[in-house]
Amino acid sequence: MARLRRNKNRAPEPVRSRGRRAPIIELNDVTKVYPGGHMALDRVSLSIGRGEFVFLVGPTGCGKSTLIKTLIRELDVTDGTVRIAGRDIGQMPDKKIPQLRRNIGTVFQDFKLLPNRTVYDNVAYALQVIGASRAEIREQVPATLRLVGLSTKLHNFPDQLSGGEQQRVAVARAFVNHPPLMLADEPSGNLDPVTSIGIMQLLYRINKTGTTVVVVTHDREMVDNMRRRVVELYEGRVVRDEVSGGYTEESTTEFGMRMQAEMGVGANGERKTNGHGHSLAR
Ligand SMILES: Nc1ncnc2c1ncn2[C@@H]1O[C@H](COP(=O)(O)OP(=O)(O)OP(=O)(O)O)[C@@H](O)[C@H]1O
Ligand SMILES: [Mg+2]
Repeated sequence: MARLRRNKNRAPEPVRSRGRRAPIIELNDVTKVYPGGHMALDRVSLSIGRGEFVFLVGPTGCGKSTLIKTLIRELDVTDGTVRIAGRDIGQMPDKKIPQLRRNIGTVFQDFKLLPNRTVYDNVAYALQVIGASRAEIREQVPATLRLVGLSTKLHNFPDQLSGGEQQRVAVARAFVNHPPLMLADEPSGNLDPVTSIGIMQLLYRINKTGTTVVVVTHDREMVDNMRRRVVELYEGRVVRDEVSGGYTEESTTEFGMRMQAEMGVGANGERKTNGHGHSLAR
């Protein structure tokens, strides 16, 4: 499979990249005005390095999903440039867009699984459409379903799964070809706290394999506890971009246990109080 490559001849970066990692996402003065005149993104500049884990937050309607859609050219921007791995995707011929999207795994709040196909077939389908061989499919599909903890559900249909399990299938489908970039738009929006932590733990594990992960979420507590970079939008503008240090060497299990402890989530999913009678849930 073709991998995203950096274009070494491009213009100097307008935005400081983090550390020495080559940016995989670069937005330069991106503005998006929807037909009808609403400005959903207002001169957004942003640089995300390879291997980063970034939260995208902000109030409803601030432009998070719009930004995500511009990264896969589901939406064309009105002004400014979006570069993925150094390539200006606004200049990409239409016929190259499927290849761009093959390199970007996407997960949305509504899992968008094929209802008449089994778990196995939902994930296999993602490889079939990119022309993977049968041998590759036979190897990669079970391995990815093991990674997301669904080895025992291969032959279930989506309506025979819990919401959290369905979202795990969606993550497996997005990750089965090991894309260098994963975008998740409110992947745990409909899930209970324990299941949400499970999904974050999975994205954390995927990030540890080297994949850059960008997650849109409303869960402030999750964001606070994960201590990763946070980009906040407000009315289409970046109003905060903070890198939070710490916990980079945690194993996935340590991460999951710490998240459960810090978020006050018990073994069966209930939220505990913080000892002062206040619920920790927001
Ligand atoms: N197709 C569209 N046509 C016109 N306006 C749109 C369209 N899609 C989104 N908008 C508007 O653009 C703004 C940003 O929408 P967007 O979906 O990016 O917000 P969001 O931050 O993802 O919100 P939420 O947290 O509710 O998902 C909103 O005011 C929305 O109404
Ligand atoms: Mg949205």
